[in-house]
Amino acid sequence: MGVTAEVAVIGGSGLYALLDGATEHEVQTPYGPPSDAVTVAEVAGRRVAFLPRHGRDHRHPPHLIPYRANLWALRSLGVRQVLAPCAVGGLRPELGPGTFVVPDQLIDRTSGRAQTYYDRGAVHVSFADPYCPTGRRTLLAAAARSDVPAVDGGTVVVVEGPRFSTRAESRWYASMGGAVVNMTGHPEAVLARELALCYSSIALVTDHDAGVEGGEAVTHEEVFRVFGENTDRLRGLLLEAIAALPAERDCDCGRALDGINLPFALP
Ligand code: ADE
Repeated sequence: MGVTAEVAVIGGSGLYALLDGATEHEVQTPYGPPSDAVTVAEVAGRRVAFLPRHGRDHRHPPHLIPYRANLWALRSLGVRQVLAPCAVGGLRPELGPGTFVVPDQLIDRTSGRAQTYYDRGAVHVSFADPYCPTGRRTLLAAAARSDVPAVDGGTVVVVEGPRFSTRAESRWYASMGGAVVNMTGHPEAVLARELALCYSSIALVTDHDAGVEGGEAVTHEEVFRVFGENTDRLRGLLLEAIAALPAERDCDCGRALDGINLPFALP
């Protein structure tokens, strides 16, 4: 058996490395290679994998990220718990740059992305609650301990991108109940569920989206600058959360495929 890991972090825009003293591994999957080599190290007694979602040099734009390969690669290493930081725009005035949100819902506004492993057979996973409750709880507790206040809950609207939204789209997303908006939350969350992984996200607000009253047009520069200013806080919070994740899963995520006839074996 080669390298193994139990927990993974999929790093977002601006988070291209997480682990000290890590070893680097090229992983192959039936869906091609993941976004980049996976680095693995031990954190607080847990084997942890890190995968930069966009690649270390940010070569994969959000709509072309190899999402299926990424989750498959992590599961094939043994990973069962995934923490997924990401950058988001705030859709409400009170969710300004620098705010952390641990979302509890998502709305998919993407189009044309490969969003399932199951193109044959009858595999219909439940997705009413897209995020692992234990992962969410652990992230919130870690944020509180790290003195990084995080908002408990909120709906992420996931847009296709790579452009930012118009003011009208942005106002519409807010009116449909969205708290924040981003380009990568889907299909990552559902693919994790389709592999019976625990998946939870911590979203860093980098800008007010265009529809928020008084808001400017969102710029690429602003998103990366604010993410960069908060990377140290995010890294500390993630390491704290990894240490606090229960080694034995106590949620239902691992049972997502129970009773379903899978057309192929999972790694
Ligand atoms: N990622 C960060 N800010 C964003 C925004 N305003 N819209 C979509 N994705 C984002």
